[in-house]
Amino acid sequence: MKFLVLNGPNLNFLGIREPDIYGKQDYAALEDFVRAAAKEYGVEVELYQSNHEGDLVDKIQWAYGKVDGIVINPAAYTHTSVAILDALKAVALPAAEVHLSDVNAREPFRRISYAGMACRRSFIGLGFEGYRQAIRYLKELCQGEQEAE
Ligand code: DQA
Repeated sequence: MKFLVLNGPNLNFLGIREPDIYGKQDYAALEDFVRAAAKEYGVEVELYQSNHEGDLVDKIQWAYGKVDGIVINPAAYTHTSVAILDALKAVALPAAEVHLSDVNAREPFRRISYAGMACRRSFIGLGFEGYRQAIRYLKELCQGEQEAE
């Protein structure tokens, strides 16, 4: 079983950007955390980060036929990108949305999630742990679907 773990703009600046909100650990630490979580659950992961909306759309399209599910933190594009929503709908892979911070407790514009409309579940405000829970959730979901076949 393999999942794509996709991170959007400015997440490469983790540890530098607004540490009170996003924490002091950097993007490399997040990658290590995700790889450790994948190992814990016995799944493969492909990690990708981009600051560009079209790159994220391209990577979601790349995922079609290659992975079993997508963990996505679209960052600011969460609240603006119909293109990412449409890409997730197009590939129709099971997807889970992650946000490090509690987007529902911040500015009102962060309460709208376009990508979230194509995701089975959201893991919000749990920091890095959200990625672990999303991987576990997708694994259980995919296993359930395999057993039902
Ligand atoms: C974020 C929340 C978004 O509102 C913000 O634009 C980000 C990160 C999070 O992980 O908490 O860049 O997705």
